[in-house]
Amino acid sequence: MKPKTLITGAASGVGRVLAERLAKSGHALYLTDRDDHVHDVARELCAQGVTAWAETADLANEAHLTRLANNAREQLQGCSNLVNCGGMTIKLNGESIALEALTVDDWEKVQRVNLLAPVILCRELIPEMARAGYGRVVNVASRAGRMHVPPAGLEYHASKAGLIGVSRALAGIYADRGVTVNCVAPGRVDTPMTKATSPAQLALAKAAIPIGRFASAHEIAASIEFLLSPEASYITGSCLDVNGGIYMN
Ligand SMILES: NC(=O)c1ccc[n+]([C@@H]2O[C@H](COP(=O)([O-])OP(=O)(O)OC[C@H]3O[C@@H](n4cnc5c(N)ncnc54)[C@H](O)[C@@H]3O)[C@@H](O)[C@H]2O)c1
Repeated sequence: MKPKTLITGAASGVGRVLAERLAKSGHALYLTDRDDHVHDVARELCAQGVTAWAETADLANEAHLTRLANNAREQLQGCSNLVNCGGMTIKLNGESIALEALTVDDWEKVQRVNLLAPVILCRELIPEMARAGYGRVVNVASRAGRMHVPPAGLEYHASKAGLIGVSRALAGIYADRGVTVNCVAPGRVDTPMTKATSPAQLALAKAAIPIGRFASAHEIAASIEFLLSPEASYITGSCLDVNGGIYMN
């Protein structure tokens, strides 16, 4: 059966590279982002003969997410795979928000996009996967959900640690119905998100990585692709650390 996959954050970085990889592996794709550029990504894939749709949606908006899930299910005729890759961080002049400056608005914005949106899409899509007896969910967390990462803010740490916790809980609930739920926790990746961090912080970050460099988006996407594969059937509730050796669990 052709895998049918919804990817959030597909206009840029890891999500975009993942879409290109999965297209080569025969997935039918439903791509979303708040950035209109996601339509260009889908158009390029369609021109190569891939089955791909795109929809702009704001991950902070519940109505957008329920519409998105319905449309993905309809166009793909069922959705067997969900990748929650879209995410955000807040930087002011390349630095994260200090504790003293943290506002409830900023806190809630990051939790909505990084944590609540994946939960809502799971709510909308996992029950049907369970009824079909097969599903794969991969949530893109972060090393900041596993340990203290100096350039990341409190709100980002909380959102990614929460995502890892929620993924474990869902994995336990749906383990006996063919649906696996896992996280990939990247260290620093060479994508537009990383460019928001100050050069001084990035130099410190790079120096601390045993492998001595940032990850490419392909290295993260390859890990996600593995967890999406039917062969990953005995892996659920795991968090795959892809971080160049800076956090080993
Ligand atoms: N880049 C890193 O160093 C790094 C490290 C650890 C984890 N991550 C995580 O990896 C994932 C992919 O990030 P990336 O590095 O490819 O960054 P990126 O900025 O290139 O891609 C993130 C995408 O999410 C989209 N997005 C953000 N807010 C949105 C919203 N409200 N609604 C819809 N779309 C929204 C953006 O438009 C963008 O296309 C994110 O979840 C991020 O937190 C990244």
